[in-house]
Amino acid sequence: MIDLQLTDKTHDEGRQGEALVIDAPAKRNGRKLYIESYGCQMNFADSEIVASILLDQGFETTGDYKEADVVFINTCSIRENAEQRVRNRLSQFGVEKRRNPKLIVGVLGCMAERLKSKFLEEEKLVDVVVGPDAYRDLPQLIGQVEDGQKAINVLLSREETYADISPVRLNGNGITAFISIMRGCDNMCSFCVVPFTRGRERSRDPHSILAEAQDLFDKGYKEVTLLGQNVDSYKWKGADAAENAEIEVNFAQLLEKVALISPEIRIRFSTSHPKDITDEVLYTIAKYDNICNYIHLPVQSGSSRVLDLMNRTYTREWYINRIDAIRNIIPDCAISSDIIAGFCTETEEEHQETLTMMDYVGYDFAFTFSYSERPGTLAARKLEDDIPDEVKRRRLSEILLKQQEWSLYRLQQNVGKTLRILVEGPSKKSDKDYCGRTDQNAMVVFPASEEIKAGQYLNVFIERCTSATLLGRIAD
Ligand code: 5AD
Ligand code: SF4
Repeated sequence: MIDLQLTDKTHDEGRQGEALVIDAPAKRNGRKLYIESYGCQMNFADSEIVASILLDQGFETTGDYKEADVVFINTCSIRENAEQRVRNRLSQFGVEKRRNPKLIVGVLGCMAERLKSKFLEEEKLVDVVVGPDAYRDLPQLIGQVEDGQKAINVLLSREETYADISPVRLNGNGITAFISIMRGCDNMCSFCVVPFTRGRERSRDPHSILAEAQDLFDKGYKEVTLLGQNVDSYKWKGADAAENAEIEVNFAQLLEKVALISPEIRIRFSTSHPKDITDEVLYTIAKYDNICNYIHLPVQSGSSRVLDLMNRTYTREWYINRIDAIRNIIPDCAISSDIIAGFCTETEEEHQETLTMMDYVGYDFAFTFSYSERPGTLAARKLEDDIPDEVKRRRLSEILLKQQEWSLYRLQQNVGKTLRILVEGPSKKSDKDYCGRTDQNAMVVFPASEEIKAGQYLNVFIERCTSATLLGRIAD
């Protein structure tokens, strides 16, 4: 039984001179790992790879950092407040470290990559700093710390996809899981730190993706989410043993292959990029019932001039064309977005264009952010972060308000209907209730019944809704 602490806190978001006791590797069995994740789904998926690597070394996992031998924090750099949260958490681990000087504290992920050895200078309690492409090196790095040194590996790779590592599913519900299909990002959006922290884009061998999805299905999982920074640019070229030939697989073809595993397994994916999403992908979604009708298509801004400064490489008109294509090809598709308020030089009229874009699309859901300058990015080097905080805050609140109206409107359209959901398990708020999601990714809560089990598809009659949840009762 894996008991590992994973907390999504954003999307709403050393030893001091003392020598460590050195354990021989064989004696490491039974040592306890605690890992906490911040940021995007990709980071959570990476933590499952990290856990797999350390479990192979004989580690056990724990949900209580106070009883751990190794504490890892898998970090996010996307906005300044994400980094601040990590630093606050590290100071809590520092208290524990003073109580138990043998505790190994490691920083993984994007902040490790961004700050590199500076982390070891700035945060004295940190022993290990490991970037997203260096997790295979963790056992060696832990050994180095046990030898009394600080350890760091922040090398980025052009090849690493951890294709052969079978992730340990952490804190999961046994029904839904993430599969990472690619790593890194080659889009240089001017606001974004990701190309610097996660390196060049590379696609994972489709055979290993399919094997992982099949294995999950065989274990009773009913939904997989294919993850990449830009899934639409997934492209794999290589030998296919079965066909004894070179094959090329794009994202639409990969989606189809996963969908064909079984009609009983649902497929989701994230994140799509407006410049790359093709009609072929849309037709594939429309063709297979088990590919969910839900697309996360971040717009970032509704103004072509701001989009150009953001280096998004599409215009307002292009984005609208993609929305129209989605509506034509998949009429009941839910669409969500990421939106940034107050990007460099954004005028009041350009902010209004974001609001009118929101009205054009009528997003089912949106993650909304205030622009936060990140060191080293194109925007930080070339543009002035000139929108005052109070203006950013006001624009963000207008965006939020509009989104709340649209989210409520979209959910209300379901009231009085019977919807098919995949039951995920007891609801977070009360174990008298169960919850599950619709194809369009709306969360449905309904009174539990003895016969209902997580992992089953169920028809639920929707009686009412809040701005975030549908409430109903079992229909059959
Ligand atoms: N400031 C604010 N929001 C940002 N995002 C990425 N970088 C920044 C930044 N510097 C947002 C984008 C992206 C989402 C994951 O985070 O909207 O799509
Ligand atoms: Fe955060 Fe981006 Fe790194 Fe994910 S890839 S953890 S969102 S900085």
